[in-house]
Amino acid sequence: MKNRNTLFLALIILGFACAQQEAPKASLTSAPFGILPNGDSVTLFTLTNVNGLSMDVMTYGGIVTALRVPDRDGKLEDVVLGYDNLDGYLESSPYFGALIGRYGNRIADGRFTLDSVEYTLVQNNGKNHLHGGTVGFDKVNWTAAPVEVEGGVALGLSYVSADGEEGYPGTLTTQVIYTLSNEDEWKVSYEATTDQRTVVNLTQHTYFNLTSMKEDILNHELVLNAPSFLPVDSTLIPTGELRPVADTPFDFTSGKPIGRDIMKENTQLTYGLGFDHCWVLEKSDKKLNFAASVYEPVSGRLMEIFTEEPAIQFYSGNFLDGSITGKNSKVYNQRNGLCLETQHYPDSPNQPQFPNVVLSPGETYRTSTVMKFSTK
Ligand code: BGC
Repeated sequence: MKNRNTLFLALIILGFACAQQEAPKASLTSAPFGILPNGDSVTLFTLTNVNGLSMDVMTYGGIVTALRVPDRDGKLEDVVLGYDNLDGYLESSPYFGALIGRYGNRIADGRFTLDSVEYTLVQNNGKNHLHGGTVGFDKVNWTAAPVEVEGGVALGLSYVSADGEEGYPGTLTTQVIYTLSNEDEWKVSYEATTDQRTVVNLTQHTYFNLTSMKEDILNHELVLNAPSFLPVDSTLIPTGELRPVADTPFDFTSGKPIGRDIMKENTQLTYGLGFDHCWVLEKSDKKLNFAASVYEPVSGRLMEIFTEEPAIQFYSGNFLDGSITGKNSKVYNQRNGLCLETQHYPDSPNQPQFPNVVLSPGETYRTSTVMKFSTK
Protein backbone atom coordinates (compact mmCIF):
# COMPACT_ATOMS: atom_id res chain seq x y z
CA MET A 1 0.00 0.00 0.00
CA LYS A 2 2.82 2.35 1.00
CA ASN A 3 4.60 1.56 -2.29
CA ARG A 4 1.43 2.29 -4.28
CA ASN A 5 1.10 5.69 -2.60
CA THR A 6 4.74 6.52 -3.26
CA LEU A 7 4.31 5.56 -6.93
CA PHE A 8 1.14 7.68 -7.16
CA LEU A 9 2.93 10.68 -5.65
CA ALA A 10 5.87 10.22 -8.02
CA LEU A 11 3.50 10.19 -11.01
CA ILE A 12 1.83 13.40 -9.84
CA ILE A 13 5.22 15.12 -9.45
CA LEU A 14 6.30 13.89 -12.90
CA GLY A 15 3.03 15.10 -14.44
CA PHE A 16 3.47 18.50 -12.83
CA ALA A 17 7.06 18.76 -14.09
CA CYS A 18 5.97 17.89 -17.65
CA ALA A 19 3.15 20.45 -17.53
CA GLN A 20 5.70 23.05 -16.44
CA GLN A 21 7.92 22.20 -19.38
CA GLU A 22 5.02 22.49 -21.81
CA ALA A 23 4.64 26.23 -21.22
CA PRO A 24 4.24 27.73 -24.72
CA LYS A 25 7.41 28.79 -26.44
CA ALA A 26 7.87 31.97 -28.44
CA SER A 27 8.52 31.23 -32.10
CA LEU A 28 9.28 32.81 -35.45
CA THR A 29 8.44 30.85 -38.58
CA SER A 30 8.35 31.76 -42.27
CA ALA A 31 6.58 30.64 -45.43
CA PRO A 32 6.40 31.80 -49.06
CA PHE A 33 3.60 34.35 -49.65
CA GLY A 34 3.77 34.91 -53.41
CA ILE A 35 5.74 36.40 -56.26
CA LEU A 36 5.89 40.07 -57.26
CA PRO A 37 5.45 41.16 -60.91
CA ASN A 38 9.27 41.67 -61.11
CA GLY A 39 9.84 38.02 -60.11
CA ASP A 40 10.93 38.69 -56.51
CA SER A 41 9.51 36.35 -53.92
CA VAL A 42 7.64 37.57 -50.88
CA THR A 43 7.98 35.78 -47.53
CA LEU A 44 5.48 35.83 -44.69
CA PHE A 45 6.89 35.61 -41.16
CA THR A 46 4.81 34.64 -38.13
CA LEU A 47 5.97 35.89 -34.73
CA THR A 48 4.37 34.28 -31.68
CA ASN A 49 5.08 35.19 -28.07
CA VAL A 50 4.86 32.96 -24.96
CA ASN A 51 1.26 34.05 -24.35
CA GLY A 52 0.15 32.98 -27.83
CA LEU A 53 -0.19 36.50 -29.29
CA SER A 54 0.98 36.42 -32.86
CA MET A 55 1.54 38.61 -35.86
CA ASP A 56 2.11 37.91 -39.55
CA VAL A 57 4.50 40.21 -41.40
CA MET A 58 5.42 40.05 -45.06
CA THR A 59 8.56 41.32 -46.71
CA TYR A 60 6.52 43.38 -49.22
CA GLY A 61 5.98 46.77 -47.57
CA GLY A 62 6.91 45.32 -44.16
CA ILE A 63 3.15 44.82 -44.03
CA VAL A 64 1.55 43.39 -40.90
CA THR A 65 -1.17 41.22 -42.42
CA ALA A 66 -2.54 39.84 -39.14
CA LEU A 67 -2.25 40.55 -35.41
CA ARG A 68 -4.01 38.17 -33.04
CA VAL A 69 -4.61 39.46 -29.51
CA PRO A 70 -6.91 38.10 -26.77
CA ASP A 71 -10.22 39.54 -25.64
CA ARG A 72 -11.08 39.58 -21.94
CA ASP A 73 -12.01 35.85 -22.12
CA GLY A 74 -8.66 35.02 -23.65
CA LYS A 75 -10.05 34.53 -27.16
CA LEU A 76 -7.41 35.40 -29.76
CA GLU A 77 -8.75 37.34 -32.75
CA ASP A 78 -7.18 39.29 -35.58
CA VAL A 79 -7.52 43.04 -34.93
CA VAL A 80 -6.02 44.50 -38.12
CA LEU A 81 -7.40 45.12 -41.60
CA GLY A 82 -5.84 43.64 -44.73
CA TYR A 83 -6.14 41.01 -47.40
CA ASP A 84 -5.98 37.21 -47.42
CA ASN A 85 -3.30 37.13 -50.09
CA LEU A 86 -0.56 39.15 -51.79
CA ASP A 87 -2.66 39.95 -54.87
CA GLY A 88 -5.07 42.02 -52.79
CA TYR A 89 -2.21 44.23 -51.58
CA LEU A 90 -0.80 44.57 -55.10
CA GLU A 91 -4.14 45.53 -56.66
CA SER A 92 -5.06 48.39 -54.32
CA SER A 93 -4.33 49.09 -50.71
CA PRO A 94 -4.80 52.27 -48.66
CA TYR A 95 -1.48 51.41 -46.94
CA PHE A 96 -2.98 48.52 -44.91
CA GLY A 97 -0.43 47.43 -42.26
CA ALA A 98 2.50 48.99 -44.10
CA LEU A 99 5.74 50.70 -43.25
CA ILE A 100 5.64 54.26 -44.53
CA GLY A 101 8.62 56.19 -45.87
CA ARG A 102 10.54 58.16 -46.71
CA TYR A 103 8.05 60.69 -45.39
CA GLY A 104 4.89 59.67 -43.56
CA ASN A 105 1.97 62.04 -44.26
CA ARG A 106 1.81 64.95 -46.70
CA ILE A 107 4.33 67.39 -48.18
CA ALA A 108 2.63 70.38 -49.79
CA ASP A 109 2.73 70.59 -53.60
CA GLY A 110 5.23 67.72 -53.66
CA ARG A 111 8.21 69.96 -53.19
CA PHE A 112 10.60 71.33 -50.61
CA THR A 113 13.85 73.26 -50.48
CA LEU A 114 16.88 72.02 -48.56
CA ASP A 115 20.22 73.87 -48.52
CA SER A 116 18.90 76.17 -51.29
CA VAL A 117 18.12 73.29 -53.66
CA GLU A 118 14.49 72.68 -54.56
CA TYR A 119 13.49 69.01 -54.72
CA THR A 120 10.43 67.88 -56.65
CA LEU A 121 8.63 64.85 -55.27
CA VAL A 122 5.98 62.65 -56.81
CA GLN A 123 2.52 64.24 -56.46
CA ASN A 124 0.33 61.26 -55.60
CA ASN A 125 -2.42 62.91 -53.53
CA GLY A 126 -3.90 65.67 -55.65
CA LYS A 127 -1.10 68.21 -55.85
CA ASN A 128 0.51 66.95 -52.65
CA HIS A 129 2.97 64.17 -51.90
CA LEU A 130 1.63 61.47 -49.53
CA HIS A 131 3.38 58.65 -47.66
CA GLY A 132 6.57 58.63 -49.71
CA GLY A 133 5.04 58.71 -53.19
CA THR A 134 3.76 56.26 -55.78
CA VAL A 135 6.28 53.60 -54.80
CA GLY A 136 6.91 54.37 -51.17
CA PHE A 137 8.36 52.02 -48.55
CA ASP A 138 4.94 50.31 -48.43
CA LYS A 139 5.47 48.99 -51.97
CA VAL A 140 9.04 47.71 -51.89
CA ASN A 141 10.22 44.24 -50.94
CA TRP A 142 12.24 44.50 -47.72
CA THR A 143 15.05 42.11 -46.78
CA ALA A 144 14.01 40.33 -43.62
CA ALA A 145 15.75 38.16 -41.02
CA PRO A 146 15.03 37.13 -37.43
CA VAL A 147 16.78 39.21 -34.75
CA GLU A 148 17.74 37.78 -31.34
CA VAL A 149 16.13 39.77 -28.51
CA GLU A 150 15.59 39.23 -24.79
CA GLY A 151 12.00 38.61 -23.72
CA GLY A 152 10.34 38.13 -27.09
CA VAL A 153 10.75 37.47 -30.80
CA ALA A 154 11.84 39.99 -33.40
CA LEU A 155 12.11 40.44 -37.14
CA GLY A 156 14.52 42.88 -38.77
CA LEU A 157 13.56 44.48 -42.10
CA SER A 158 15.99 46.49 -44.18
CA TYR A 159 15.80 48.51 -47.36
CA VAL A 160 18.20 50.79 -49.22
CA SER A 161 16.41 53.60 -51.02
CA ALA A 162 18.46 54.95 -53.93
CA ASP A 163 19.41 58.61 -54.27
CA GLY A 164 16.55 60.35 -56.10
CA GLU A 165 13.91 57.71 -55.36
CA GLU A 166 10.46 59.38 -55.55
CA GLY A 167 12.40 62.67 -55.77
CA TYR A 168 14.25 62.53 -52.41
CA PRO A 169 17.95 63.36 -52.16
CA GLY A 170 20.50 60.90 -50.76
CA THR A 171 20.77 57.14 -50.47
CA LEU A 172 18.73 56.24 -47.40
CA THR A 173 19.63 52.98 -45.63
CA THR A 174 16.78 51.93 -43.37
CA GLN A 175 16.34 49.21 -40.81
CA VAL A 176 13.11 48.54 -38.94
CA ILE A 177 12.76 45.94 -36.19
CA TYR A 178 9.37 44.56 -35.19
CA THR A 179 9.51 42.95 -31.74
CA LEU A 180 6.65 41.00 -30.21
CA SER A 181 7.49 40.92 -26.51
CA ASN A 182 6.34 38.44 -23.90
CA GLU A 183 4.72 41.46 -22.19
CA ASP A 184 2.28 41.60 -25.14
CA GLU A 185 3.88 44.62 -26.75
CA TRP A 186 4.53 45.20 -30.41
CA LYS A 187 7.56 47.45 -30.65
CA VAL A 188 8.61 49.15 -33.87
CA SER A 189 12.20 50.48 -33.89
CA TYR A 190 13.36 52.52 -36.85
CA GLU A 191 16.91 53.45 -37.89
CA ALA A 192 18.14 55.26 -40.98
CA THR A 193 21.34 56.79 -42.30
CA THR A 194 22.02 58.86 -45.40
CA ASP A 195 24.93 59.86 -47.63
CA GLN A 196 23.46 63.35 -48.39
CA ARG A 197 21.29 65.74 -46.42
CA THR A 198 17.67 64.65 -46.74
CA VAL A 199 14.33 64.54 -44.90
CA VAL A 200 12.91 61.47 -43.10
CA ASN A 201 9.69 60.70 -41.23
CA LEU A 202 9.00 56.99 -40.91
CA THR A 203 5.81 55.48 -39.52
CA GLN A 204 3.59 52.40 -39.49
CA HIS A 205 0.12 52.37 -41.06
CA THR A 206 -1.80 49.49 -39.50
CA TYR A 207 -5.60 49.83 -39.46
CA PHE A 208 -6.94 48.55 -36.14
CA ASN A 209 -10.41 47.30 -35.34
CA LEU A 210 -10.40 45.85 -31.81
CA THR A 211 -13.79 44.14 -32.36
CA SER A 212 -12.10 42.07 -35.11
CA MET A 213 -14.51 43.59 -37.66
CA LYS A 214 -17.71 42.74 -35.80
CA GLU A 215 -18.50 46.46 -35.58
CA ASP A 216 -17.06 49.73 -36.86
CA ILE A 217 -14.66 51.76 -34.71
CA LEU A 218 -17.09 54.46 -33.53
CA ASN A 219 -17.56 52.89 -30.08
CA HIS A 220 -13.83 52.48 -29.53
CA GLU A 221 -12.83 54.82 -26.71
CA LEU A 222 -9.80 56.90 -27.62
CA VAL A 223 -7.43 58.84 -25.38
CA LEU A 224 -4.90 61.16 -27.04
CA ASN A 225 -2.28 62.65 -24.73
CA ALA A 226 -2.31 65.79 -26.81
CA PRO A 227 -3.23 69.33 -25.74
CA SER A 228 -3.21 70.65 -29.31
CA PHE A 229 -3.58 69.58 -32.91
CA LEU A 230 -2.58 70.88 -36.32
CA PRO A 231 -5.50 72.37 -38.27
CA VAL A 232 -5.27 71.71 -42.01
CA ASP A 233 -6.35 73.34 -45.26
CA SER A 234 -8.83 71.63 -47.58
CA THR A 235 -6.01 69.46 -49.03
CA LEU A 236 -5.05 68.30 -45.52
CA ILE A 237 -1.81 70.30 -45.30
CA PRO A 238 -1.23 71.88 -41.84
CA THR A 239 -1.79 75.63 -41.82
CA GLY A 240 1.11 76.07 -39.39
CA GLU A 241 -1.10 76.80 -36.39
CA LEU A 242 -1.00 74.65 -33.22
CA ARG A 243 -4.58 74.85 -31.99
CA PRO A 244 -5.55 73.90 -28.41
CA VAL A 245 -8.03 70.99 -28.40
CA ALA A 246 -10.01 72.36 -25.43
CA ASP A 247 -13.69 72.90 -26.29
CA THR A 248 -13.34 71.33 -29.73
CA PRO A 249 -14.27 67.85 -31.10
CA PHE A 250 -10.49 67.23 -31.15
CA ASP A 251 -10.25 66.96 -27.36
CA PHE A 252 -9.47 63.32 -26.54
CA THR A 253 -7.40 64.20 -23.47
CA SER A 254 -9.79 62.52 -21.05
CA GLY A 255 -11.00 59.87 -23.49
CA LYS A 256 -14.29 59.48 -25.37
CA PRO A 257 -15.88 57.21 -27.98
CA ILE A 258 -14.59 58.13 -31.43
CA GLY A 259 -18.18 58.49 -32.67
CA ARG A 260 -19.23 61.05 -30.08
CA ASP A 261 -18.17 64.21 -31.93
CA ILE A 262 -17.19 62.91 -35.36
CA MET A 263 -20.39 64.19 -37.03
CA LYS A 264 -20.27 67.64 -35.36
CA GLU A 265 -20.47 70.71 -37.57
CA ASN A 266 -16.80 71.69 -37.83
CA THR A 267 -14.74 72.87 -40.80
CA GLN A 268 -11.78 70.69 -39.81
CA LEU A 269 -13.99 67.59 -39.67
CA THR A 270 -15.44 68.52 -43.05
CA TYR A 271 -11.94 68.74 -44.58
CA GLY A 272 -10.95 65.34 -43.18
CA LEU A 273 -14.36 63.67 -43.68
CA GLY A 274 -13.90 62.96 -39.99
CA PHE A 275 -10.68 62.78 -37.97
CA ASP A 276 -7.60 62.85 -40.18
CA HIS A 277 -5.29 65.14 -38.28
CA CYS A 278 -2.00 65.27 -36.50
CA TRP A 279 -2.09 65.79 -32.73
CA VAL A 280 0.88 67.33 -30.94
CA LEU A 281 1.77 65.16 -27.97
CA GLU A 282 2.20 66.39 -24.42
CA LYS A 283 5.93 66.42 -23.70
CA SER A 284 7.43 64.36 -20.92
CA ASP A 285 10.92 63.48 -19.78
CA LYS A 286 10.29 59.80 -20.52
CA LYS A 287 12.00 58.39 -23.61
CA LEU A 288 8.81 56.54 -24.56
CA ASN A 289 6.04 59.01 -23.91
CA PHE A 290 2.40 57.89 -23.49
CA ALA A 291 0.69 58.98 -26.72
CA ALA A 292 -2.68 57.26 -26.97
CA SER A 293 -4.91 54.43 -25.85
CA VAL A 294 -7.85 52.71 -27.52
CA TYR A 295 -10.32 50.66 -25.50
CA GLU A 296 -13.07 48.54 -27.02
CA PRO A 297 -15.73 47.88 -24.36
CA VAL A 298 -17.36 44.72 -25.79
CA SER A 299 -14.18 42.64 -26.22
CA GLY A 300 -12.39 44.45 -23.36
CA ARG A 301 -9.32 44.91 -25.58
CA LEU A 302 -7.04 47.82 -24.75
CA MET A 303 -4.15 49.10 -26.84
CA GLU A 304 -1.78 51.68 -25.37
CA ILE A 305 0.76 53.52 -27.50
CA PHE A 306 4.08 54.93 -26.30
CA THR A 307 6.44 56.77 -28.59
CA GLU A 308 9.58 58.86 -28.99
CA GLU A 309 7.85 60.89 -31.73
CA PRO A 310 6.44 64.38 -31.06
CA ALA A 311 3.06 63.78 -32.76
CA ILE A 312 0.45 61.24 -33.81
CA GLN A 313 -1.83 61.19 -36.83
CA PHE A 314 -5.26 59.82 -35.95
CA TYR A 315 -7.11 58.74 -39.08
CA SER A 316 -10.63 57.37 -38.55
CA GLY A 317 -10.77 55.35 -41.79
CA ASN A 318 -12.85 58.04 -43.51
CA PHE A 319 -11.85 57.11 -47.04
CA LEU A 320 -12.79 53.44 -46.72
CA ASP A 321 -15.92 53.31 -48.86
CA GLY A 322 -16.98 49.69 -49.28
CA SER A 323 -14.97 49.23 -52.47
CA ILE A 324 -12.49 46.89 -50.77
CA THR A 325 -13.31 43.35 -49.69
CA GLY A 326 -10.61 42.28 -47.27
CA LYS A 327 -9.74 39.24 -45.19
CA ASN A 328 -12.47 36.69 -44.53
CA SER A 329 -14.67 38.35 -47.19
CA LYS A 330 -15.28 41.40 -45.00
CA VAL A 331 -16.24 44.56 -46.86
CA TYR A 332 -14.39 47.60 -45.47
CA ASN A 333 -16.82 50.48 -45.10
CA GLN A 334 -16.14 53.97 -43.80
CA ARG A 335 -14.82 53.88 -40.18
CA ASN A 336 -14.21 50.12 -40.13
CA GLY A 337 -10.61 50.73 -39.11
CA LEU A 338 -8.49 53.39 -37.44
CA CYS A 339 -4.84 54.34 -37.79
CA LEU A 340 -2.67 55.91 -35.12
CA GLU A 341 0.56 56.88 -36.85
CA THR A 342 3.31 58.22 -34.60
CA GLN A 343 5.40 60.74 -36.52
CA HIS A 344 6.85 64.21 -36.95
CA TYR A 345 4.47 66.89 -38.20
CA PRO A 346 3.20 66.73 -41.79
CA ASP A 347 4.81 69.14 -44.25
CA SER A 348 7.71 69.89 -41.88
CA PRO A 349 10.18 70.25 -44.78
CA ASN A 350 8.22 73.41 -45.74
CA GLN A 351 7.45 74.67 -42.24
CA PRO A 352 10.72 75.52 -40.48
CA GLN A 353 8.97 76.26 -37.16
CA PHE A 354 8.03 72.54 -36.90
CA PRO A 355 10.46 70.06 -35.25
CA ASN A 356 13.41 69.11 -37.45
CA VAL A 357 13.10 66.26 -39.98
CA VAL A 358 16.44 66.77 -41.71
CA LEU A 359 18.96 63.93 -41.53
CA SER A 360 22.63 64.57 -42.34
CA PRO A 361 25.42 62.16 -43.25
CA GLY A 362 27.09 60.83 -40.09
CA GLU A 363 23.85 61.03 -38.07
CA THR A 364 21.51 58.12 -37.35
CA TYR A 365 17.76 58.65 -37.40
CA ARG A 366 16.54 56.52 -34.51
CA THR A 367 13.02 56.33 -33.10
CA SER A 368 10.65 53.78 -31.66
CA THR A 369 6.99 53.23 -30.84
CA VAL A 370 5.40 50.56 -28.63
CA MET A 371 1.82 49.28 -28.80
CA LYS A 372 0.88 47.38 -25.67
CA PHE A 373 -2.13 45.04 -25.64
CA SER A 374 -4.14 44.04 -22.58
CA THR A 375 -7.78 43.78 -21.51
CA LYS A 376 -9.96 45.33 -18.85
C1 BGC B 1 -3.89 59.83 -44.08
C2 BGC B 1 -5.17 59.89 -44.85
C3 BGC B 1 -5.03 59.02 -46.05
C4 BGC B 1 -4.72 57.64 -45.60
C5 BGC B 1 -4.50 56.77 -46.79
C6 BGC B 1 -3.65 58.43 -43.69
O1 BGC B 1 -2.44 58.32 -43.00
O2 BGC B 1 -3.92 60.67 -42.97
O3 BGC B 1 -5.46 61.20 -45.24
O4 BGC B 1 -6.18 59.03 -46.83
O5 BGC B 1 -3.56 57.63 -44.83
O6 BGC B 1 -4.93 55.52 -46.54
